[in-house]
Parts: sequence; structure tokens; C-alpha cells
Amino acid sequence: MIKNINYLDQEIFNLEMENIHNSGWVFVCLKEQISAENDFVTYEISKKSLVIQNFEGDIKCFENICQHRFNKIQTGYIGNSPFFCKYHAWTYDSNGKALVNQSFTDQLILENRNCLKQYEVGINGEFVFVKVNQDSKLSLKEHLGDFDQILSNLSSYFDKQISNEYTIIPHHANWKLLVENVLECYHCSTVHKETLVPIGIGTKKPENHVTDRNHDMIDYPIRIGKQQKIRNEKLSFLNKRLFKHSSLRHIYVFPNLFITSTDGILFYIGKLNPQSPDNTDLLVSFVKPILNDLTTKEAILSNAFFNSSLDSSTKVIYEDKVILENIQKNLSMVEGLSQIFGDEEFRIERFHDNVKRNVEYI
Ligand code: FES
Ligand SMILES: [Fe+2]
Repeated sequence: MIKNINYLDQEIFNLEMENIHNSGWVFVCLKEQISAENDFVTYEISKKSLVIQNFEGDIKCFENICQHRFNKIQTGYIGNSPFFCKYHAWTYDSNGKALVNQSFTDQLILENRNCLKQYEVGINGEFVFVKVNQDSKLSLKEHLGDFDQILSNLSSYFDKQISNEYTIIPHHANWKLLVENVLECYHCSTVHKETLVPIGIGTKKPENHVTDRNHDMIDYPIRIGKQQKIRNEKLSFLNKRLFKHSSLRHIYVFPNLFITSTDGILFYIGKLNPQSPDNTDLLVSFVKPILNDLTTKEAILSNAFFNSSLDSSTKVIYEDKVILENIQKNLSMVEGLSQIFGDEEFRIERFHDNVKRNVEYI
């Protein structure tokens, strides 16, 4: 059991950032989000400030700290800008070397910091990861284990993102609450009775639980009722997708990536960015499946369908957010207690075992 105090305490949070989020490989973005020259995303958690930048097609990751007077080189979670600092315009090349006059270069060389610290980037299908701890010897393949194949297979069905950037949804809640919430669908029939239940999710027992390392995947079967049959007939173009599994498939790639495939019709990608013990940013993207040979009419229909799916899927996240923020507020009043988990919440217990291996909780 992890006591509630561990969702509130700054020192515990610092330990989690050090030993969990900044200790190995983390998900940073989808390949598509940094596919153009000068596209970048930043990763900023606790004592790490990194930037992942596209240099003429090469994806590199550097410390996002200008060597002149330590301004951030790139700002914001995502953007497109050449790699130079916006304070005194120091420019860095694709090796992280500052392109400055001889006097500055001499001083940097003297202090042995004429190149920005570089971090290893690993790409699996459409997913881009960074090894945030330079001392770790683990390869991305080793980190992912069986999920290496699962992710590359899944991303082979990805088409384009529905909107270009990701949506940032700040939560006034501890990052562990966000993880726990997605590791069960016990709450689906109550919290999502207007969003997930009408599409047949949340009423059947989960199946096909797959685990490896600290990662985890499960299927919440979709009940095909009258309503679903009518919808499937109207949206027959969706039958042209290549990936079908009749479930809401949920994948948690430890520590910061959530993926949901709704029967291969829509893919949700969520990235966790813990900010403080009671603040977590959730960065959300939605990806369409590949649909081959759509007629003009089907293409129009599919655009309308994906835009409305994006709205209803975002609504699901906001439904959860309200609950998680309520819980966070209450935890301080019962900080010596811990949550109780039943049979349907078994994935949470596994998650707790995993974090407990890295942090000594109060
Ligand atoms: S701090 Fe970056 S150029 Fe001066
Ligand atoms: Fe939920």
C-alpha cells in the first residue's frame, strides 16, 4: 500500500523524478510531431531540461540550456524554430557546438563545455524516446522488452494525427493518480456513462493482460449492441482499416506513455509530464488509422467522424480530470491512509510494486 502522503510530499516527488522519470528511457513525442526541419519538442521534468530537435532530418537531443548565460534554447512543449538561443542569439550546430566568436569559443573550451550535453534518441515505429540518464546502459529494445514489438506493430497502422500539435491538459493531481486511473475501467460505467458506455465499453470484464518489464497492456471488450450495429453500418468506411480487435486496448509504457486503441478506429497517445506533487500536465494526441481507397464521399464522412471522435475522446479525459482533482484535494485530509483496490484494479497493484522498487515511500 502507498500512503496518501506520498501523493503530496515534495521530497517523495523529487525521489520519483530522480529514480523513475529521469532514470532511463522516456517517451517524448510521435515521429510526425518533429518531422519537419527545425521542429522540436522539449522535455522538462525536475532537474532535466532537454530539447529534441530535427536537424535536416536528423533527430538529436541536447540539454536545453544555453552555455552563454543559461537561458533556455527552445521554449514551450513543441514548436518549430532554428536551434539558437533567443537571448543573445547564440546558434548551435547539429553536434551541439556553439557557433560563436573565437574569444567565446576559447572560454568554452577552457571550461570544457563547448558542446551541449547530448542524450541518446531511440525510435520505435512512430514513437520517439530519449534516454534521460546518460549513465544508464540499457538500450531502448531492452527497456521495452516485449513492448518493442507491440509498439512497432501498432504504429504500422497509424496514419496522420488528427490535429498537428498536442493538447496540453493540466491536472491538479499527482502523476500516480493519472496512471492509476487509466489502469482500470472499473470506473468506466459510472464516470463515462455518456461517452464510453454508449459505444459499448465498460460493461465487460477485461481480458488479454500482457506484461513485461514495468509495461502493461489489456483489452476492455466492446459490447456490440443495437446502437453499435447501426453506427457500424453508417460508418462502413471504417471497415477499410487493417487493425481490428473489438476492444478498447490500453497500453501503459512505463513511466510516462499511455496509448489507447479503440478497436483500431482511433489511437489516443498521452504523455505525462509531472510538474510538482499536485500538478501534472497531460499532453494528448489523437491519430487516425490508415484507411485505404476511400471514395470522395467516404473521405468527407471520415473527416467529420474523426473530428467528432476527437471531441468525445477529449471529453473522456475531462471526465476523469474532475474526479482526479477531487481526490487530490481530499488526500491531504486523509494523508495517513491509503486507497483500497479490488479485483478489477489489479493493474494498479502491479504499478505500485514497480514504483516501490525505485522509491522508498513514507
Ligand atoms: S544566454 Fe543564450 S545567447 Fe546569451
Ligand atoms: Fe476514465
